[in-house]
Order: sequence, then C-alpha cells, then structure tokens
Amino acid sequence: MASKSKILVLGGTGYIGKFIVKASAEAGHPTFVLIRETTLSHPEKSKLIESFKTYGATLLYGDLSDYDSLVRAIKQVDVVISTLGGQQIDNQVKVIAAIKEAGNIKRFLPSEFGLDLDNQRAVEPAASFFNKKLKIRRAIEAEGIPYTYICSYAFAGYFLANLGQQNLTAPPRDKVVILGDGNVKGVYVKEEDVGAYTIKAVDDPRTLNKTLHIRPPANVLTFNELVSLWENKIKTTLHKIYILEDELLKKIQESPFPTNLMLSLVHATMVKVDSTNNEIDPSLGVEASELYPEVKYTSVDNYLNAFV
Ligand SMILES: NC(=O)c1ccc[n+]([C@@H]2O[C@H](COP(=O)([O-])OP(=O)(O)OC[C@H]3O[C@@H](n4cnc5c(N)ncnc54)[C@H](OP(=O)(O)O)[C@@H]3O)[C@@H](O)[C@H]2O)c1
Repeated sequence: MASKSKILVLGGTGYIGKFIVKASAEAGHPTFVLIRETTLSHPEKSKLIESFKTYGATLLYGDLSDYDSLVRAIKQVDVVISTLGGQQIDNQVKVIAAIKEAGNIKRFLPSEFGLDLDNQRAVEPAASFFNKKLKIRRAIEAEGIPYTYICSYAFAGYFLANLGQQNLTAPPRDKVVILGDGNVKGVYVKEEDVGAYTIKAVDDPRTLNKTLHIRPPANVLTFNELVSLWENKIKTTLHKIYILEDELLKKIQESPFPTNLMLSLVHATMVKVDSTNNEIDPSLGVEASELYPEVKYTSVDNYLNAFV
C-alpha cells in the first residue's frame, strides 16, 4: 500500500481547521500545522495547540506574511490544505507562489468549505467574497498546481445548532425566523464529517483537479423540512416568521458590516440557490458520500437529537 501523504494545514487553529488537523492525524497522515508564534499565548488556542501535539501532529512556526516560513513548511510535506479565514482568502496567492517555489506539492486544497462557487448567484457583499475564492481557483489552475476544491455547504455548527436563529445557542422552542420561503434545499454537514471526507480526498486520484461536493443524501433538506423535523422532535408547532427575499435584500443593503455579509451569505446559501439542483458534472466534480460510503456521516436527524 502506498504510504499516506504528509499533510500541512494552514489555519489549523481556526474554526474548521481544527477538525481537519484531527481528521488528518486520526487517518494516519503525518500531519503538520503552521502555527503563528503569537497564537501560542492565546488562552484557548494554546490548549488546542497542545491537543494537536497529543494527536502526534508536528507544529511548524510561521506566518502568511513570512514567505520563507511558508516555503520551509511546504517543502516538508506532500499536500497543503488551507483553512485560512475569510480575511486571508486573497493572501493565498502567497501560498500559491510558495507551492510553486517548493515544487514538491502533489495536491493543494485552498480555503473553500462552502457553496458550489460556480453555481451561486450571491448578492453583495457575499458576491465579492466568493469572487476572491474564485480568483484563487483560477490562479491555482493557471500555475498548473494539482488541486481539489472542497464544497462542504453549510457547517452544522453554524446553521443547525441554532436552526439559523441569531443569538441562540440551541434550536428554538417557540418561534422561528425563516429567511425566504423556506423551500430552497440546503446541505448541512457536521464539521467532523467535513474533516473525514476532506482527508479521504487528498490521496484519491478520483478527486484530482476536481471539486469534492459533500452532499450526504440525508442532509439535503429545505428549511421548512428542517423546521418540521425539529417540531416533530419537540412535539411543538413553532410560530413561523417568514422574511421573504425582497425584505431580506433590503436588510442586507441597510445593515453594517459584518451583519450584511452574514445575511448575504445566508441569502446565497438558503434563499437564492438550491444547492442540489445542479447535477454534478463528472468531468468537474464528485460527491463525497458516494465516493466514500465507509464514512458513517451524521444525519441532520441525528444531529438534532442532541438538542431535544
Ligand atoms: N460553510 C460554512 O458554513 C462556513 C462557515 C464559516 C467559514 N467557512 C469557510 O471556511 C474557511 C475557514 O474559515 P474559518 O471560519 O474556519 O477560519 P477562522 O476560524 O477565521 O480561522 C482562520 C485561521 O487562519 C489563521 N491565520 C489568520 N491569519 C494568518 C496569517 N497571517 N498567517 C497564518 N495563519 C493565519 C488563523 O490563525 P490564528 O489562530 O493564529 O489566528 C486561523 O487558524 C473559509 O474559507 C470560510 O469561508 C465556511
């Protein structure tokens, strides 16, 4: 059996990055994490960094703004996964340059982890945000770097844990605000599953230069279906407040940053585009749960049970 690729995670101390680091180490990949030295003294992140050591991950110190540290880190591995945050999307051009200079990378997974970018119709400011990610895709392709793009749709922790209700930490029990008419299908994926599918893809020739869509069939639901699933669990009918698209668009225009960005991301994810109405073109993409049936993903139904 071919040995497992050495994986470098950039942004491993971030929200989704920590799940990727854990999944990589658990799958037996020699795992490296680029850490900013200043983050070592962060009260919560320092504990996270300690936990990386217990998984056997190797910590490399560096920063996106220190190009040489990137090249040094990249030279030690086979695969680079970026989970850098929204503010750093543009700066991934430095990662692309460092990968070119290092010359040894078999696969690059840029920071995506969201919608199918080629099939979205976002409004501003989400549109500009998605365009930054698209520019990074085009730069990777122009440089001829082998890649996989991960479309993991909505993180469960962001959208299911409170049923998309602002300022709640659990799904509501009295009323629910529904953006749009609630009839657009979305995909909700638990973060551990995003990690497991992403790591499966890194050494898989079937995902080379393709988009991996994480669309487990049991997790594709309209918001109305989601609400009804939750209502059945708590045996209560919620009062439903619909904010239809025109009103939502007005709210996006009137809200300051970052509320306008959050609302426009939700608009793109849950109101505007049915995440599943486009067939995956096999020359461009593959679906994760079909490719890796051995991953026992958490269904939305099961996920919500934890909150009953
Ligand atoms: N689908 C969804 O529901 C969803 C939700 C949220 C995000 N996302 C996407 O997921 C991806 C990751 O976002 P996230 O929210 O997980 O990110 P995040 O929590 O903001 O984490 C950002 C990471 O980047 C690191 N970083 C920042 N500046 C750096 C620098 N100069 N040099 C090196 N490292 C640096 C941070 O390190 P420090 O710890 O040192 O600061 C941290 O590890 C993004 O593409 C985002 O759009 C998707």
